[in-house]
Order: sequence, then structure tokens, then C-alpha cells
Amino acid sequence: SVLFTLLSIPAHADVLSDIKKRGALRVCLEPAYMPFELTNKRGEIVGFDPDLATLMVKDLGVKLELVSTAWDGIIPALLTEKCDLIMSGMTITEERAQKIDFSNPYMVIGQTALLRKDLADKVKSYKDLNNPKYKITSKLGTTGEIAAKKYLPKANYSSFETEQEGLMEVVNGKADAFIYDSPYNAVAIGQRGEGKLVFLDKPFTDEPLGWGMRKGNPEFMKWLNGFLVKVKKDGSYEKLYQKWFKN
Ligand code: ARG
Repeated sequence: SVLFTLLSIPAHADVLSDIKKRGALRVCLEPAYMPFELTNKRGEIVGFDPDLATLMVKDLGVKLELVSTAWDGIIPALLTEKCDLIMSGMTITEERAQKIDFSNPYMVIGQTALLRKDLADKVKSYKDLNNPKYKITSKLGTTGEIAAKKYLPKANYSSFETEQEGLMEVVNGKADAFIYDSPYNAVAIGQRGEGKLVFLDKPFTDEPLGWGMRKGNPEFMKWLNGFLVKVKKDGSYEKLYQKWFKN
């Protein structure tokens, strides 16, 4: 509406001009979510998102600053201007969209289950886990947790601070299944599976991932969506996708 348009005119310039003035794009991410962002053995933050951010700053002609943030503090960090952008494999949800704006989706993922190997014969679909005899895990404040509670309400759910902890419960046989984003579980089965896990790889949710920005920055939004179209067209998105998702 007209009223909304008037009220949402920012008192300051669009963040796109702040980024250019500062000479740096600051990106918030939580680097525990392979292959989107992880910390390598040398302590560097690497992954699909930082590589995309590197392409962004080339186009913007500025430097890149990665701001490592706890997952439960990532939206507050953006809102208090610790960064300009969230690039952290974040699912676009209605609840989050009340606080921040999202770019167009840069990928679509879904929830999947990693099971204890012994359950291979009993659990053929995620639906079979909807039973009080099963212990399931996911990560606090994620769409994995939301899906676990929504689609498997009868299962015995425990929440963990990190992906790694939730996953290790299943690897160590203390829980039956880890519910999480398909790309993460695909990497995890290769790294931790070692005959201990079964991957139910058919996603049972459809989740668009987006880059998050503070509301009221239409120039930045336009730039980001234009960047996304460009990297999808010129093959650079595909190159990074092959690098991080096809192993
Ligand atoms: N896609 C899921 C969500 O939005 C998980 C993302 C976790 N990202 C991370 N960097 N730890 O809730």
C-alpha cells in the first residue's frame, strides 16, 4: 500500500551504497554446515557460500569480510548491522521473512533422514520414524527441527546446538535418526557413514534457500537478484555447484 511504501522509506541510504563506501561486503554465516560453509583444517572458512560471496565482491569491486556467527544469533547479528548479508544456507520461511528480506532462492533443498544401520529393514521412509520408540535428533532453530516436530510428532525428539552433535548421537547409536538438510546429510554419509548409517535421501520437504538482508534496501535486493541471474547464466554458479555438491 501507499502507506507502507511511505513508512518503509529508510532514513539512511540503501545498504548497497554503504557497502561501496566502506569498500567491503560483510557476510554473516555459521561455518558448520557443509558443503555451504565449513571451517577447514587451517581454520579458514570455505564452501559454496563463501565462494559465491567472493564472486559477489569481484562484481561490487569491494573486499569480502566473513563474519562467523552462532546460528541462533545470525538474524540478530544482521539486524544490529554486524553484517550486510546472511549467506548461510538459510531456508526462506514466513517466520524469518517477518524480520528480514530474502533474495530470490539460490537453491532448493529438503529434509532427509540419516538412520542407524540396524534400522534399515524397519524404516523405509521417514514416516516410519513417527513412533515413540524412535529417538530422532536435529539442530536447534533450524528447519530440520521444525520438520522433525511437524512431520514426526510421535517420535522422541532431542535438539542439539550443532549439526555435528545431532549427527554423532546417531553415529554412536544413542539416537535412531538425524533429520537435516539433504546436502549436509549427503556429505555426512560419506564422511561418517562407514557402514554405520543409512541415508533416506528422498527429501520430504521443499525448501528454497535465500540470502538474507535487512528490510528496506531495494537497491541491494535488486543487485543481489541480478547477480544471481548473471552467475546462473554465465556458468559460474554451475562451476561452484560442481565443486561443492558433486563429489
Ligand atoms: N536450511 C536450514 C535452516 O535454514 C539449516 C541451515 C543451517 N545453516 C548453517 N550455516 N548452519 O534452518
